[in-house]
Amino acid sequence: MQVATTIAEIRAWVRKTHAAGKTVGFVPTMGALHVGHVSLMQAAAERCDSVVVSIFVNPTQFGPGEDFEKYPRPFEKDLAICAQHGVDAVFAPSRGEMYPRENLTWVTVEKVSEPLCGRFRPGHFRGVATVCMKLFNIVGADAAFFGQKDAQQVAVIQRMVADLNMPLEIVVCPTVREPDGLAVSSRNQYLSPQARKEAPVIYRSLQRSAELIRGGETAVARIAEQMWEILGQVPALQVEYVSLVDAGSLEDLPQVRGKVLVAVAGRLGSTRLIDNIVVDATAK
Ligand code: PAJ
Repeated sequence: MQVATTIAEIRAWVRKTHAAGKTVGFVPTMGALHVGHVSLMQAAAERCDSVVVSIFVNPTQFGPGEDFEKYPRPFEKDLAICAQHGVDAVFAPSRGEMYPRENLTWVTVEKVSEPLCGRFRPGHFRGVATVCMKLFNIVGADAAFFGQKDAQQVAVIQRMVADLNMPLEIVVCPTVREPDGLAVSSRNQYLSPQARKEAPVIYRSLQRSAELIRGGETAVARIAEQMWEILGQVPALQVEYVSLVDAGSLEDLPQVRGKVLVAVAGRLGSTRLIDNIVVDATAK
């Protein structure tokens, strides 16, 4: 497995791979790799001849007071996980390699970045879109693989790629969950044992929304009300939002129709958790 820390090295590796007639699948990550990330590596290996994983904790997507400093960075363990899962090259740049000067050029995806997490993490999706644009330009992959776990990130990246005619395919992979339903996340390790026990309430509230929609309920307010009730069973959970929106545009829906993104975010102690499901209201 090739480990590249500079832009020149990873570009040379991809150039050589393309010259050998192989396609390149790309999995961008911030490291602290877990089974969710591994599922993306596997999806990339199924569709592409070679797989590149990037590991970079991107400072521009963290707000002041967020967990940039304490974000886990188990680099050697991450490399071992990549090697075990057939990754061909890892791109692990330093901060200075990615941002060698004051960054003056930013990618803002309007509207799609604004609701849901956008209201609670100002500037977050600008940082995500900008670093993904940089990584896509650096790696030059044929396809990039993202998890549905971060539904709004997916919507932002898909819109950026479509609006700017970027020559790569975006592949979205299902959310990997713990047996009790909690979406796997690098941040779950911050949870206290008690909080860890309580965290699956978020997925239970999402499952309830799916039951209601499949049962014919169309009033968003009534669905959200029942979700709030379930979430209320864990008083320690400070809910940021419960939203039912159009899965493509992320626009508010008064009535459910088409593909509905049901998304929840909240804080359990100091840990911010997000989760979502997409329910097709037409397929009852
Ligand atoms: P990170 O949180 O490391 O996630 C990297 C990728 O793994 C994302 O596409 C995310 O959706 C996916 N992922 C995380 N948990 C998952 C799970 N339980 N099931 C399936 N996929 C999961 O997302 C980022 O990093 C950054 O914002 C990044 C795109 C790398 C830009 O800095």
